[in-house]
Amino acid sequence: MPPTEGRETAWVGDKAAYQELYRRSMEDPEGFWMERTRELVSWFKEPEKALEWDFHNPSIKWFQGGTLNVSYNCLDRHLTDGRRNKAAIIWQGEPDEDVRVYTYQMLFTEVNRFANVLRKMGVKRGDRVALYLPMIPELAIAMLACSRIGATHSIVFAGFSAMSLQNRIQDCEAKVLVTADAVLRAGRTIALKPNADEALTGCPSVERCVVVRRAGNDIPMVEGRDSWWHDEMAADDIRHFCEPEHMEAEDTLFILYTSGSTGKPKGVVHTTGGYLTYTASTMQYVFDMHDNDVYWCTADIGWITGHSYIVYGPLCLGGTSLMFEGVPSYPAPDRFWQIVEKFGVNIFYTAPTVIRALMREGVEWTQKHDISSLRILGSVGEPINPEAWMWYHQNVGKGQLPIVDTWWQTETGGILISAMPYATALKPGSATRALPGVDAAIVDSEGRELGPNEGGHLVIRKPWPGMLRGVFGDPERFKSTYFGRFPGMYESGDGARVDEDGYFWVMGRLDDVINVSGHRMGTAEIESALVAHPAVAEAAVVGMPHDIKGESIYAYVTLTADVEESKELIGELRAWVRKEIGPIASPEVIQFADGLPKTRSGKIMRRVLRKIAAGITDEFGDTSTLADPGVISDLLDGRRDLL
Ligand code: PRX
Repeated sequence: MPPTEGRETAWVGDKAAYQELYRRSMEDPEGFWMERTRELVSWFKEPEKALEWDFHNPSIKWFQGGTLNVSYNCLDRHLTDGRRNKAAIIWQGEPDEDVRVYTYQMLFTEVNRFANVLRKMGVKRGDRVALYLPMIPELAIAMLACSRIGATHSIVFAGFSAMSLQNRIQDCEAKVLVTADAVLRAGRTIALKPNADEALTGCPSVERCVVVRRAGNDIPMVEGRDSWWHDEMAADDIRHFCEPEHMEAEDTLFILYTSGSTGKPKGVVHTTGGYLTYTASTMQYVFDMHDNDVYWCTADIGWITGHSYIVYGPLCLGGTSLMFEGVPSYPAPDRFWQIVEKFGVNIFYTAPTVIRALMREGVEWTQKHDISSLRILGSVGEPINPEAWMWYHQNVGKGQLPIVDTWWQTETGGILISAMPYATALKPGSATRALPGVDAAIVDSEGRELGPNEGGHLVIRKPWPGMLRGVFGDPERFKSTYFGRFPGMYESGDGARVDEDGYFWVMGRLDDVINVSGHRMGTAEIESALVAHPAVAEAAVVGMPHDIKGESIYAYVTLTADVEESKELIGELRAWVRKEIGPIASPEVIQFADGLPKTRSGKIMRRVLRKIAAGITDEFGDTSTLADPGVISDLLDGRRDLL
């Protein structure tokens, strides 16, 4: 049952309040969202029309006729609403003594100055700016600076390789890249600028590269192209104020690349008015953010969770958002709880993989600190298994705190299915119910709605303001990926069921996407990286259950004729994938295979490969269409030899 304490002041205080909001949002979605945006967002010009949409030839337009600026909403208006001296961002660097606090006034000034730096470099409304940065305040500052001048940011997670960065910059033709000398991680300094340099050898669109000095390691600078952040910001002609652009509601705010089941990562496009309204709205509904709260989302801003729930959602509401540069286990597994105590964190949002990793270290680490300031706990990225849920609830939540298990995706912009902490009775392992404005359903492969407890495809039948508006440069892919299979519905790619109480139980991806530690990896992407290696003739990648990561990457590799199998080659292939995509894509297991299970038409039977990877030795289902059924026993033998 939801806690009673905190209920009176909660944005949504009980079940009846949720039901009323939900009913209203379904009966009159346009009225509902118009009201919501008026409450949460300051428009320069009010929108004239709530919504225009078509899910067949997909086109979704929210709040047309309105103009606004995201940085204005996240900063300027808080200078006059009593929050000027409030902490907007509390930054905890990896070394404990590295703390920076930005009040709204301070953040405003930094953002305005950097917006002027970008303008000086010739960045104009609509231009793309790539950000390849560690978790340092300059990342949030650069995002907001882009939004101020109407430039589109494209953030590339700093754990991605030079090649991944290059592909993403090439796809969106960014004009400027902002990066840093290095990333500090678990006590080590990992140079970042060399990756940027390597990427930029193939990016003619990039005219300038701004470098933040984080670690002070020695790095080469390219004359005429590269300059230091601190020099640019200190230049005499950089003023403290930069007039915010008046953006149309449907102007692009950012692009974020994410993996799909086929081909290269796609640039998910999010726009201005709807996205801001939706992230702010869900910030209230799901995290019940209030003015005195210290809120901490442990994600990296390089992923959608950080975009929506470290930067845009919290700052739009004038909240205090904690940003952490380090990792949960360094210098010791109590790092998170030590930070919770140090800053009196009230709302804490993390991922099941983190919980499982900390669980393994033992409960004593949670007991070393006073974490009684915590009020709400959150989870995102994958289904949270009951064991991790209980551990989180008992040891971090002292057996009392609600855990909001939030289901959403890069494409959805914000949370779609989640409990509201004071209004929803929880069931461990269920993301509970659809949020107001979200028409979620489960359908069979023909698109027919299924009844209680029947597993099927999770779809959304009406637009919500935070949804993606396109795939950058590829309208066909936008249509076929999300609207192609079930006419008139958004297809999430996840499998789920709804129980008799209307609670959603998300099972995981139904396509060839693997979820490693809450990060989406496309199998096709990893396969194409592997086959690019001269020793590899063919590769098939599947997910394998993993205790901490949820899933890990299992690769079957067929070598070219004259190449010998060896341990060294396995190491080399792993390093190869790290370099092609990034460390998160590096396979946990590589099994050499003389042949792969293919149907007579040449299609790889992945379901068989998934079972073998999971250690299942029988029950392969119908294998009568296999061209060579003997392949299965060879693969089983190969796996046995591996372990
Ligand atoms: O399979 C779902 C899983 O993560 C996918 C989205 O990944 P990404 O776009 O990287 O965004 C992750 C953070 C929003 C979904 O298709 N997923 C995310 N949250 C949950 C989840 N699965 C179950 N329960 C969740 N709470």
